[in-house]
Amino acid sequence: MTDLSHSLRASASLRITTAAVLLMGTAAGGTDLPHPLADTDFLYDGAPSEALFALGRDLFFDPILSGNRNISCGTCHDPAHGSGDGLALGFGTGGEGFGPDRHAGTGVTARVPRNAQPLWNIGAREYVAMFHDGRLEPDPDGPFPSGYWSPAREELPEGLDSLLAAQAMFPVLSPVEMAGWSGSNPVGTAVAQDRAPDAWDLIAERLQELPEYAAQFEAAFDDVTEPEHITFTHAARALAAFQTTAFRSTDSPFDTALQANDLSVLSPDAQRGAALFYGDAACAGCHSGPLLTDHGFHAIAVPQIGPGKGHGADTTYFAASGFPDRLEDEGRFRVTFDPDDLFRFRTPSLRNVTLTGPWGHSGAFDDLEQMVRHHLDAVASLETYEVQPDTLPAFETIITRRGAGSTLIFENLNPFRAGAFAARDGFVQASDQLRTRIAAASAIEPIALSDREIADLMTFLATFTDPTAHNRSDLVPATVPSGLAPQPTPQPQGVAD
Ligand code: HEC
Ligand code: HEC
Repeated sequence: MTDLSHSLRASASLRITTAAVLLMGTAAGGTDLPHPLADTDFLYDGAPSEALFALGRDLFFDPILSGNRNISCGTCHDPAHGSGDGLALGFGTGGEGFGPDRHAGTGVTARVPRNAQPLWNIGAREYVAMFHDGRLEPDPDGPFPSGYWSPAREELPEGLDSLLAAQAMFPVLSPVEMAGWSGSNPVGTAVAQDRAPDAWDLIAERLQELPEYAAQFEAAFDDVTEPEHITFTHAARALAAFQTTAFRSTDSPFDTALQANDLSVLSPDAQRGAALFYGDAACAGCHSGPLLTDHGFHAIAVPQIGPGKGHGADTTYFAASGFPDRLEDEGRFRVTFDPDDLFRFRTPSLRNVTLTGPWGHSGAFDDLEQMVRHHLDAVASLETYEVQPDTLPAFETIITRRGAGSTLIFENLNPFRAGAFAARDGFVQASDQLRTRIAAASAIEPIALSDREIADLMTFLATFTDPTAHNRSDLVPATVPSGLAPQPTPQPQGVAD
């Protein structure tokens, strides 16, 4: 397929005429639009076995996978909230409530440092890297037996038959997301002691002990004939099967246009927006293909808020900032250590983008138009950005820990340090030095668009929204085999989005 946007970006002088040709060409049945998504574009050709799907569904919403049995995958990937949590930065284990109402309660030690990614069409085979920084990638000729490059390196087991299955091994290892802190439960302790395989085994043992799960695993997997055969790898495969089907979303007006290979099925405003998207506004230089992503990594200077996903302790940094950890999120650089990758993040898919806010890897923008306008002059937007008061809700109490290993003591943070804790959320944006580094890395050229043109672009973006994606709460089962309450609580139809 020709990537029209690349040739457009290569020659600015051709832009306007080519964009016009695109519109006329597609209206006349040309071939420049991405191909429509078909079953074969998805894992399992879009149809995993019923048994695998049903098992994955229970696991996805069952808090049994979390160390303290108090959070499920669905808590942060809520089918009533765009398959995210509706928060800029979410609250993992210990948090209370669902969707944008979720809050820290009394049991949370830190915010999740990045925005929860939406899962729309995440089972598409074209995905070649997972997470905002792509830290999980297939590496069939690499050094690790799993065939994946990942933070778990050689510890990631064999038998993960898709990138999406490999991804499901990780949320349960995150102390802030699902594992819990050292000493709060054996999974959290295993994670804190760098014993990932033990953490996976401990969760698998919980599943082995529940007859209803054992029967489901036996139905879903040929190599499980006894409860003891169940591993977390099996669970991860079922989670992938579930996500592939549950979050498939290919019934948007944009899909209708792809199937017809004809943009004229869209409204005139949306067609003008499409001409900009594929033409002068150059959006498709990065947001290309049927999923509206090139799966590449680009630095576009999105402001950073929250605790940050830094590199751990650095004494020189402590002297300069007063914080023990580096707070800036260097994105792809954290994976490759290539200076060219500083502050690059994976281009997000724009499928259902009107439903997936707040936007950006840090959730800095809670207004979609503001997120789009950011692209037009990214460095100026970074410089003038101010976090809105309700973007990062305050913690009710801040618990902190002291001690080491499995003897941690949790206690309320003393008020003197609470100020520093809050300052952390705004530290990167307040630092001239760090903003300058983020701006210097930015690789997106400023573009001038009129308000009218932006309005047309927004109308085109809205055609990426599938009406069946507003509220998929019917995915949440009424009960799960652990007997715990499934999370999240389903939203009545018509209420959520
Ligand atoms: C506490 C909230 C939270 C929970 C619980 C959680 N996730 Fe996530 N998920 C996130 C965040 C945040 C990211 C992005 C992390 C990053 O880039 O570092 C993410 C990323 C992902 C991705 C990658 C998507 C992409 O486009 O690359 C998938 C898939 C996913 N999660 C599935 C799951 C599954 C399956 C579970 C349960 C086993 C789960 N998540 C539990 C918050 C959560
Ligand atoms: C140079 C590549 C590039 C170009 C060109 C580009 N984007 Fe992006 N876009 C990105 C990246 C990378 C992100 C994520 C940045 C981050 O999170 O730090 C992003 C994020 C977004 C988001 C937020 C999505 C989400 O889920 O958070 C929207 C909306 C968006 N872009 C729309 C557009 C539009 C509209 C255009 C054209 C005006 C455009 N982009 C041009 C790379 C690009």
